[in-house]
Amino acid sequence: MAQRSGYILNEFDQILRARTINRSKYYIKRLVRALTETKTSSVNDLNLHRWKEYNDILTDSLWILEKRDTSGAHHGAYWGNFIPQIPHQLLRRYTKKGEWVLDAFLGSGTTLIESKRVGRNAVGIELLKKVAASAAKAIALEDNPYKTRTEIIIGDSSRVDMKTELLRRKIKSVQFLIMHPPYWDIVKFSKNKRDLSNAASLEEFLTLFGKIVDATYQVLDKSRYFALVIGDKYSGGSWIPLGFYTMQEVLKRRYSLKSIIIKNFDETKGKRNQKELWRYRAFVGGFYIFKHEYIFLFKKE
Ligand SMILES: C[S@@+](CC[C@H](N)C(=O)[O-])C[C@H]1O[C@@H](n2cnc3c(N)ncnc32)[C@H](O)[C@@H]1O
Repeated sequence: MAQRSGYILNEFDQILRARTINRSKYYIKRLVRALTETKTSSVNDLNLHRWKEYNDILTDSLWILEKRDTSGAHHGAYWGNFIPQIPHQLLRRYTKKGEWVLDAFLGSGTTLIESKRVGRNAVGIELLKKVAASAAKAIALEDNPYKTRTEIIIGDSSRVDMKTELLRRKIKSVQFLIMHPPYWDIVKFSKNKRDLSNAASLEEFLTLFGKIVDATYQVLDKSRYFALVIGDKYSGGSWIPLGFYTMQEVLKRRYSLKSIIIKNFDETKGKRNQKELWRYRAFVGGFYIFKHEYIFLFKKE
């Protein structure tokens, strides 16, 4: 509300400062239209007549998100989760209220919690039963002000028969796809062979990831968006650009690249305690310490 009154005051100010009558008439007409009409795009509910009100929605390709949102059911305890602001930003830009979102790597359920909060239905797939069960508990703790649905599928995202599983839940298709896969073997989520963090080689990791891109492609509506959140890794003294490798894997399919967002990377507790040591290692090894990850945005053709 404060944001809105600030916006209206700014518009009044602009009207008063206009140098010509015609210019002030133009500003008045624009304000009246912003307050009385709604114009949205086909992928979200943002009123384009009032775009100046959305100060909290990011439009730059560099995201510096200082503090994790820990409100509501977001406990932040799962090792390898992403911060809720990522799905929050993406859901508001790329979905409308009541639409369906698919997260192929559910983890602790961050996307599903955030979906409830912003009034989107969401389905998440998770390989590990225990992880899925604890996500379900956390998701249930979040209020459901818009009475939306959340569904969890336990299984390997590269093998789940997406169409059948969704239809079983009376979901015809989804309007937004989000993936936050393991960054290959940086965090080992389990000993399960189907777990992407256990892929024996980079090639195997990319093959499995590609299969998941194929499996999900069929259930995403045409002209809708897919966000891939991933970081790189070091191995044998070399930077392994997992981000660009996985991006290429997606671009082999019928997706076009809309944006590459660089997001600051939260230091893990371990690294925070060993800051000096890592700086020393960087000097010795001639490398830079990871401080960023990527959000690749694709559009289905
Ligand atoms: C990086 S985490 C996702 C974290 C999630 N975004 C969150 O905020 O909690 C990746 C998850 O993918 C799961 N996973 C790994 N391989 C999988 C596969 N083949 N199919 C489905 N889930 C898989 C892991 O168990 C892990 O929970």
